[in-house]
Amino acid sequence: MTESPSRSGAFESEVDQRVEAFTESISFDARLFREDIAGSIAHANMLSDQQLISPGERDQIIEGLVNILAELESGEFSFRPELEDIHMNIEQALIDRLGDVGRKLHTGRSRNDQVSTDMRLWIRGCIDRVDGLLAGLQKSFVQLAISEGEVVIPAYTHLQRAQPVLAAHYFLAYCEKLERDRLRLRDCRLRVNQSSLGTAALAGTSLDIDRAHTAKQLGFEGLVENSLDSSSDRDYMLEFVFCLSLISVHLSSWAEDWIIWSTTEFSMIQIPHEFCTGSSIMPQKINPDVLELTRGKAARVIGDLQTLLVLVKGLPMAYNRDLQEDKLPLFDAADTVENCLEIAIPLVAGSRLNRDNIAAGLDRGFLDATTLMEFLIKRGIPQRKAHHAIGELVRQATRQNCRLSDLSLEDFQAFDPSLDASIYDVLGIENALSAFRSLGSTSPKRVASQIGTWRERLEIS
Ligand code: ARG
Repeated sequence: MTESPSRSGAFESEVDQRVEAFTESISFDARLFREDIAGSIAHANMLSDQQLISPGERDQIIEGLVNILAELESGEFSFRPELEDIHMNIEQALIDRLGDVGRKLHTGRSRNDQVSTDMRLWIRGCIDRVDGLLAGLQKSFVQLAISEGEVVIPAYTHLQRAQPVLAAHYFLAYCEKLERDRLRLRDCRLRVNQSSLGTAALAGTSLDIDRAHTAKQLGFEGLVENSLDSSSDRDYMLEFVFCLSLISVHLSSWAEDWIIWSTTEFSMIQIPHEFCTGSSIMPQKINPDVLELTRGKAARVIGDLQTLLVLVKGLPMAYNRDLQEDKLPLFDAADTVENCLEIAIPLVAGSRLNRDNIAAGLDRGFLDATTLMEFLIKRGIPQRKAHHAIGELVRQATRQNCRLSDLSLEDFQAFDPSLDASIYDVLGIENALSAFRSLGSTSPKRVASQIGTWRERLEIS
């Protein structure tokens, strides 16, 4: 029988070729090769320090692994699907080179703890890349807040015009969401960055291994102690893909905003043409496809999370082969979010507000109505009364097809005779905007101080 690291002498026949094709994962787990080799080098060092292999054997193993790594990096390595996965491909390549010395590498280890270790290392690297990309996107939003931030835009609830805000306030709202995404990733990293190595198949081992030794070499902050837990646990991966899902939800809602803003009807933003595509039949079309795909790809990422949740929900303790299927949704979610962030960074940085068009439309929608109501409250009128009265004035202005600021003093005095011309100080969009006060509001002072905070935090000069 041909040699395979996982087919012991217990088998009476070779594997059916159809099973080989059905069970392989090398077509999608080959990308774990760096992590797999790092884990094996740490393991070999530990085995030697624990006198489970000799220092000479350790050196041969590490040299062999380093050479295999070079072959993998250069694309010269030939993968063998009959060896199932990346772990056995690398191990067999080592055995082919070193014979019995290579056959010692797997001492005190199982593919169950090996695969989980590899994925923890891979996710840790990915968390750090995504964090960098999120910071990059925050910087793009802050740059826009600096260059376009003083523009007053209508803010919406129910997609109906609500109140005026500074554009900077809007851009910084996305910085906040992305900051929470970063914090969530940082928290998730704590649980990702725990070593599974040395829990072996599921029960640990009778060999005198040192788990803390490998954990330290691989930069893990601690280890997953209970071997049954470790063999079956994929919580760290689910958490990570949840973090990715929420990032893609944030990106999707941003994309939706800007798709709407870039329509002729809204005409609030110009997306750089490098990030738009055309139509094969309608020559006038300049479409925001990148934004639409960002929205669409969020569905994939959410689907990946769903796949993982369903994958693990009915598994008996401990490792089950179903878990091999975790890699496809994990990699898909990670690749998708990285791609979306990579393209969002320059798209945001290159976008410009259509200042004239936005300004021309601000008088529609009574954006100053709430500030006017608050003016009345400040004069002692109960909120519910003021709310009702301004509603009537809005109705009157709608009938007369004019702004609230176009109504006469008599119109206001009909509601409350004590009102004087100072009421016009809060009417009009600019006045309404500068009336804001509260912490976190769109008050120009508050927003300027927020821009300062973000500049410092993200080290923007
Ligand atoms: N390719 C497998 C996976 O990704 C590795 C672990 C296999 N373990 C086993 N006992 N069959 O999950």
